[in-house]
Amino acid sequence: MAGRIPQYFIDQLLDRVDIVDLIDGFVPLKKAGANYKACCPFHGEKSPSFTVSQDKQFYHCFGCGANGTAITFLMEHNHQEFRDAIETLAQQAGMEIPDEATSNKPQVKTKTEDGIDLYKLTEKVSDFFEQQLKNHPEAEAAKQYLKNRGLTGEVAKRFQVGFIPDAWDTLMKEFGGTEKQQAALLQAGLLTKNDDKNRIYDKFRNRIMFPIQDYRGRYVGFGGRVMDDGEPKYLNSPETPIFHKGAELYGFYPARGEIRNQSLAIAVEGYMDVIALAQYDINIAVAALGTALTNTHLQRLFRITPNIVICFDGDRAGRQAAWRAMENALPLLEDGRSIRFLFLPQGDDPDTMVRQHGKETFMRLVNEAMPLTDFLIDTLKEDCDLKTLEGQAKLANTCKPHIQKLPEGVLKTLVMERLGKITNIQAESLNTNVAHSNQTNSNQNTNRSQGNQRQVIHRGNNTPQLSLISRAISLMLQNPKLARTTGDVSVFLNTQLPGYRLFAELVQTVTQNSGLNTASLLERFRENKHVKTLEKLAIHPHNLDENQLANEYQASIEKLRESLNELELDMLINKEQNDGLSQDEKIVLKKLLESTKKR
Ligand code: CTP
Ligand code: MN
Repeated sequence: MAGRIPQYFIDQLLDRVDIVDLIDGFVPLKKAGANYKACCPFHGEKSPSFTVSQDKQFYHCFGCGANGTAITFLMEHNHQEFRDAIETLAQQAGMEIPDEATSNKPQVKTKTEDGIDLYKLTEKVSDFFEQQLKNHPEAEAAKQYLKNRGLTGEVAKRFQVGFIPDAWDTLMKEFGGTEKQQAALLQAGLLTKNDDKNRIYDKFRNRIMFPIQDYRGRYVGFGGRVMDDGEPKYLNSPETPIFHKGAELYGFYPARGEIRNQSLAIAVEGYMDVIALAQYDINIAVAALGTALTNTHLQRLFRITPNIVICFDGDRAGRQAAWRAMENALPLLEDGRSIRFLFLPQGDDPDTMVRQHGKETFMRLVNEAMPLTDFLIDTLKEDCDLKTLEGQAKLANTCKPHIQKLPEGVLKTLVMERLGKITNIQAESLNTNVAHSNQTNSNQNTNRSQGNQRQVIHRGNNTPQLSLISRAISLMLQNPKLARTTGDVSVFLNTQLPGYRLFAELVQTVTQNSGLNTASLLERFRENKHVKTLEKLAIHPHNLDENQLANEYQASIEKLRESLNELELDMLINKEQNDGLSQDEKIVLKKLLESTKKR
């Protein structure tokens, strides 16, 4: 029987799959504010109350109460067992479930069972493709194609551009002599098996080959371009143990030094864009491989530079792609980091732009690129008539959920202030919600009272009020980063009061494992007898922005500590009167009495 699935793997898996993509495949989702919505697949309804949160990687139906993670969704929607659900997700993410019995460490199988190293194999194949471009008799057309597109031999060499001739068995012949070698080529995504599984042949045929290196310079896959109008224009390596399309950036490895030096990275869309820019001495460009720029991509870049310019087509599709990138990027914009957008004229891409106008003009455009927050406000402004109060309120309301995704800091304060200026021509006339959000950041000292005020508003509606401990758990579950601000939890671990121990365990789970989100935290408590309660707390509406959340959390921790102190005080006074106290207990009592006096 298969062993237990290790927790780190479930974390990695939930990190790699996107619950929005997953559910969208079964139930088409519509964007609604910060979340996605649909009619609930678990009960009949006409108006959508099924909500999916990308931040939390969690779904919830306000109608029937169904909720859970990507794993839960497959279990409940497709009636899969826990392990089967994980297998389905792992397959989609191109990951293999490791066995806990064999290892505690993340283990990626980058070698075949026979010990053939997939990285090395891919590198050898890349060298071979390069040779083919130089020497193969059919490569003339390829060379001519590259020349027509303006590539110099120098830059083609720098990017190790190669060629694979028009045959079904080029790699089979060169590298697939034995069954073991064929198995390795298959695992590396270079061969394909046809459906009835008895024929194996080359995946790439008659294409210009661009080798893809991962962030450490290892060869992980290829993009292959046709030389005419054939389809698909680009064929990319499939997901393999070493190639994850959503995580790799073409050109990252050769550009990383210059990106650091110039403190700037340019994200473009295509292979040819990266190469053309490099030919014009702009050596700081990288490309996502035909996917949207993911958080993984952006974080990879932020590790080496605080400044990213993302280059998009100026058309509608480009604006939409920029909007998605913006939504992804907001939580990453800590102070000191910047993301800007460069929209190119319709019909142009960086390749054509730099060839037509040269380095200087292109870099001028890059330097004048639009800050992400301008793009946010400008885009939303288009739908609002700012001459009217309604328009101002609408803008404030549509901007707010996005701005709230920014981490606490100066940028958030500035953007809030700007939104205040744009909308507050008669700010006092705007509804309370909006007025609140405008004030929150302009005066840091009022944050606490803001938080409380909000709380009163929210208690006015019919959401049940939570106990102190439930409230602390709920705030932390919804924003696991908060756990790190809790301080020492040993007093919570040692009390018999219901919920305190669970709270402390949740806090410890977050502090001992980096990067847990709501979903991966909840997954770890799947077997806990309180899991149903935790799930409810994970979606309990607090209606607080991030600042207020942090303050509320701190306030509830303080109150929890106070209430524990009071209990201990009662207990000690009682004991003193009945049995007398030990020396240690006397010291504790004295301290407790002093601290209550101070308050
Ligand atoms: N892409 C892909 N598969 C396709 C088309 C595009 O993977 N069928 C990816 C490639 O990584 C490509 C990028 O999306 O580089 C951008 O696509 P596109 O703008 O169509 O191509 P260009 O990079 O401009 O390529 P070219 O200039 O060669 O037409
Ligand atoms: Mn192009």
